[in-house]
Amino acid sequence: MKIAFVGKWWSGKTTISALFSSYISNHKKTLLIDADINVHLPQLFLPNTEWIESLYISSTTNSKDIKQYLIGANKRIINLDTFRKTTPPGEWSNFVVLWNNKDYIISKYTLPITNNLNLMIVWTYSWDLVWTSCYHNNLAVLENVLSHMKDQDWICIVDMVAWTDAFASSLHMQFDITVLVIESTRKWLELWKQYQELSKTSGTYDSLFVVINKVEENDDVDFVKNLISKDKILGFLTISKYIKNVEKYWWIINFLSLEDNNKEVFSVIRKLTETHKTNTEEKLHSLYELHKKYVNQWFIKDRFWDLSWQIDDNFNPFDERNE
Ligand SMILES: Nc1ncnc2c1ncn2[C@@H]1O[C@H](COP(=O)(O)OP(=O)(O)OP(=O)(O)O)[C@@H](O)[C@H]1O
Ligand SMILES: [Mg+2]
Repeated sequence: MKIAFVGKWWSGKTTISALFSSYISNHKKTLLIDADINVHLPQLFLPNTEWIESLYISSTTNSKDIKQYLIGANKRIINLDTFRKTTPPGEWSNFVVLWNNKDYIISKYTLPITNNLNLMIVWTYSWDLVWTSCYHNNLAVLENVLSHMKDQDWICIVDMVAWTDAFASSLHMQFDITVLVIESTRKWLELWKQYQELSKTSGTYDSLFVVINKVEENDDVDFVKNLISKDKILGFLTISKYIKNVEKYWWIINFLSLEDNNKEVFSVIRKLTETHKTNTEEKLHSLYELHKKYVNQWFIKDRFWDLSWQIDDNFNPFDERNE
């Protein structure tokens, strides 16, 4: 189960991802991924974050190592350069498997926060990439990690880049559930409209939900309920003294310390992760179509000719026999 928290800048994506991880990891093994250009999750869990640089998955050395590992002995990938962000796994690919603590990617590139919770960090621009790169290049290795992930018995939570950025890549297609964090104003509802349209176009609307954050007035929730269909609204969080204090005093974030009235929405999200069913055949088909669309672009064709051949129709990464 992969769940992403998305939304405008400052909406509360990081705070809600962290609180949900702190809560759900008491019930399930959890991988929390910081995939935002503004990296804020480490601060919420680790007071001293300076030494974790060697873990950043988008650094040039690490992303190469991760890609090489995921390629494994997949014969459809002839070299590292042809392993593109949309390249699907095939026979003899390696996968990321959280429940196995000895898993190569988990043990080398994540930080254990508790027994059940590990943190992975994509990271922002490094000096060698300043002026020459775009953050989507950093996210490419995350696309590979997510598409090569065995996540049946555990949960992967992604704190995403702001706005509708997930639609610039295959990321929007990778999540089983996407939670849009909004506030109760017209301006924020415009973002909901954009998300709604884009997800309908891409066939991911069924997996899109909303959490209303920073609720102050009694009518804040009603305002949203009048404009968004009720079955899409998971709940709300009021302005929280505890959340303010976490940032003010740099406390380590802990779900148990949150005010009771703000806890409810997290059990609704948990229930959704237990009941929501992804149509894996449809998802696979869409991911293959995205790969074809990506590799059909002139700059890929000029360089590599035809990479649609990387799709192995006889291989299903969601098939449990491939564990
Ligand atoms: N319910 C809440 N009550 C009080 N403060 C909140 C609440 N939710 C979030 N905040 C505060 O709002 C600010 C933005 O929250 P957060 O960093 O989680 O948002 P974000 O969407 O991840 O932002 P960015 O786009 O910068 O990554 C932070 O100062 C956070 O402490
Ligand atoms: Mg954030």
